[in-house]
Amino acid sequence: MGELVYHIPAMLTPTIEGLRIHPDGVYVDVTLGGGGHSKAIYSHLSSNGRLFSFDQDWDAYANQLAIAADGNSLSLANQGNWQFVHGNFRHLKNFLRYYKVDGIDGLLADLGVSFHHFDEAERGFSFRYSSPLDMRMNQRGGKTAADIVNNYSEEELARVLYLYGELKNSRRIAHNIVHTRSTYPLTRTEDLVAIMTGQRPSKPLLEGDEIVVDSRIKKDLARMFQALRIEVNDEMGALETMLNAALQMLKPQGRIVILTYHSLEDRIVKNFLRSGNCEGKIEKDFYGNILTPFRVIEKGRIADEEEVAVNPRARSAKLRVAERI
Ligand SMILES: C[S@@+](CC[C@H](N)C(=O)[O-])C[C@H]1O[C@@H](n2cnc3c(N)ncnc32)[C@H](O)[C@@H]1O
Repeated sequence: MGELVYHIPAMLTPTIEGLRIHPDGVYVDVTLGGGGHSKAIYSHLSSNGRLFSFDQDWDAYANQLAIAADGNSLSLANQGNWQFVHGNFRHLKNFLRYYKVDGIDGLLADLGVSFHHFDEAERGFSFRYSSPLDMRMNQRGGKTAADIVNNYSEEELARVLYLYGELKNSRRIAHNIVHTRSTYPLTRTEDLVAIMTGQRPSKPLLEGDEIVVDSRIKKDLARMFQALRIEVNDEMGALETMLNAALQMLKPQGRIVILTYHSLEDRIVKNFLRSGNCEGKIEKDFYGNILTPFRVIEKGRIADEEEVAVNPRARSAKLRVAERI
């Protein structure tokens, strides 16, 4: 795991500013990943402060352990007031209750997957390498991308591809998937690439082999893989549940900071921070005053060009910040 960069945190400075960290406070980073954001949060805490970092992927914790084993005393794994939580952030409230935390001063969610997921060929997140169609962030269970492409109806597949991948030709792709799987099961990343190109590799690929893809279809392939990944991990369902839990756990003046990477998740977060519900239904009191649990601080800030030049993933990031009233 050591040599590759696990992840480069997006919009680090505005994220930390958005949290407005109190050194003695209790903070939650629900998406540890490579730990860049968690480390920065931790560096603002006193020995009385606490940081809980969630990740449903054990690799994120293993990475911190590896950094500590390399003799780096600054690894989060060496810090007494840091707690890793191996679980889905949809269970935020239960986990915090388990740790006897009844209120938090700030929460960060940097949504989606990390570079690590794309770099680890065998996880199946990338169309660049031959691998089984997995795409689960939590490898302990749940359905895989292969389960979805082989079992969903054509209608369901079209919905997933359209909603989560914003693919305009989602119906045609869904039709191709259903047609192809009647001949052979779709089990590998190259099978999905073949759906988009209409061509199978000239010879069987070995695990981790590079898949040669015409640059003109890379964008659509990226959208297809993104759509399946979101469905595999029920990313929208987890986000909605976590936001509702965060609302209940945040103390007055506590900050919530969310980094989103595509329009659907961004709409959910935008609605939630504006209204306190994912649908964005604005409630008013008897006098017509808007009732909202948050004061919005940052309304979808984007990364500057300098950052995008070194970290292209930051191009699609949107930062939203709100304060619990
Ligand atoms: C974009 S990365 C976070 C990167 C991190 N901010 C950093 O500085 O390196 C998102 C991480 O959140 C994890 N993740 C995504 N959805 C999750 C969920 N529902 N519950 C727990 N972890 C989740 C992924 O496994 C991944 O490691």
